[in-house]
Amino acid sequence: MRDQSRDGDFSRAEALPCHCRSDYEDAGHGLDQTVSRMRSFDIAVVAGDGIGPDVVMAAQAVLGAAARVVGGFDLQYTDIRAGAGCYRDTGEDMSTEAFERARQADAILLGAIGLPDVRFPDGTEISPHLRMRDAFRLFAGVRPVKAFPNTPRKLLDERAKDIDLIILRESTEGLFYSHGKGEVTDTEARDTLLITRAVSEDLFDFAFKLAAQRKARGHKGQVVCVDKANVFRSMAFFRKIFDERAAHHPEIAKGYNYVDAQALDLIRRPWDFDVLVMENMFGDILSDLGGGLVGGMGMAPCAEIGLEHGLFQPAHGSAPDIAGQGIANPTATILSAAMMLDWLGERHNVPAATQAGALIHDAVWRGYERKRIRPVEFDGDGTTQSMTDGVITSLEELAAESNAA
Ligand SMILES: NC(=O)c1ccc[n+]([C@@H]2O[C@H](COP(=O)([O-])OP(=O)(O)OC[C@H]3O[C@@H](n4cnc5c(N)ncnc54)[C@H](O)[C@@H]3O)[C@@H](O)[C@H]2O)c1
Repeated sequence: MRDQSRDGDFSRAEALPCHCRSDYEDAGHGLDQTVSRMRSFDIAVVAGDGIGPDVVMAAQAVLGAAARVVGGFDLQYTDIRAGAGCYRDTGEDMSTEAFERARQADAILLGAIGLPDVRFPDGTEISPHLRMRDAFRLFAGVRPVKAFPNTPRKLLDERAKDIDLIILRESTEGLFYSHGKGEVTDTEARDTLLITRAVSEDLFDFAFKLAAQRKARGHKGQVVCVDKANVFRSMAFFRKIFDERAAHHPEIAKGYNYVDAQALDLIRRPWDFDVLVMENMFGDILSDLGGGLVGGMGMAPCAEIGLEHGLFQPAHGSAPDIAGQGIANPTATILSAAMMLDWLGERHNVPAATQAGALIHDAVWRGYERKRIRPVEFDGDGTTQSMTDGVITSLEELAAESNAA
């Protein structure tokens, strides 16, 4: 249940705090800061397909190290089978029992789902995670696009090293509303895009709150509505609701961009943006572009947040081309796990969990800075295991330094 003691009359989902490098130190964190009451979180783990199990295992190792070092909370995992392999073996992509177990958890940690050669008879892929988004009303897909040190700069401009923006992808309606409902005849096919006032209001409020939290940490404090309001009535409606909600957040700058121009601007001047909020399909596409901007999909974390539930997974898929080789970059999943701790800590008022999330983020930063994380994705020599070890070494080092200070 939502923690009412923190929420008061605040009826909308809490935005995630987004960490700057120094958050762990800012929190004044050290072993003497741990809270004495142990809070246990129930985490449903859906490892899924392809590289999913590898990256989830990596994230769990880092989460375990952070919980050990920070103290004050622990994580109890329940493994849940779901995905394309599950469908191939059992005829179900996720059992009703598994689905309900995920619903009961404090949070869901997911690896990746899907195998291109395992499909439903209608030709679409196995995707129980889309059903979870709908059933758990995970409307806010938070996808940070952030450049870490020593990662390949795809843009020559010096400012590319400072890319740090959020793609906020509405994740329950838009064009994905038609998932499983499209109409197909011999001569034509239709998929319908849905925008509702209720979800859009929640989405925009989330966006402005997220921008306010980021502004407090030194970011621009800006939300840009990415749409296609010049062509579609649904998008003009989306923009109208954006304006209505923006009026409640005068401290945050608002802007607009058509999605095609936004694709251009993400290449031309990504450093000018803070929070980009958009419809589901636009977010699906632009977040891969964002991942590419900062190195690759292994750098693209994701938090899917609703009023009652949170699901945390990398933005990437099951990467069948590298599955089974032990070379998947676990960074996106580790950073998603850090966002999970942020969210759990905020939601349940467990500062230790929030601090542990910040510590993981800072450890990833240091891991790249000290070249302990060298993904094969960027022509490095790191295995999933060695990169995970690099994060844990950095995490323990940061904690020791903080205690010594
Ligand atoms: N949320 C999800 O679970 C999700 C998201 C996208 C795609 N998928 C599914 O995943 C399968 C593969 O899809 P795809 O190939 O289009 O996308 P993908 O994200 O799996 O892979 C795209 C490219 O990025 C690379 N890549 C992705 N993650 C990586 C990582 N952690 N480390 C190193 N390289 C990484 C892959 O090797 C590949 O070259 C499909 O079945 C698709 O439906 C699932």
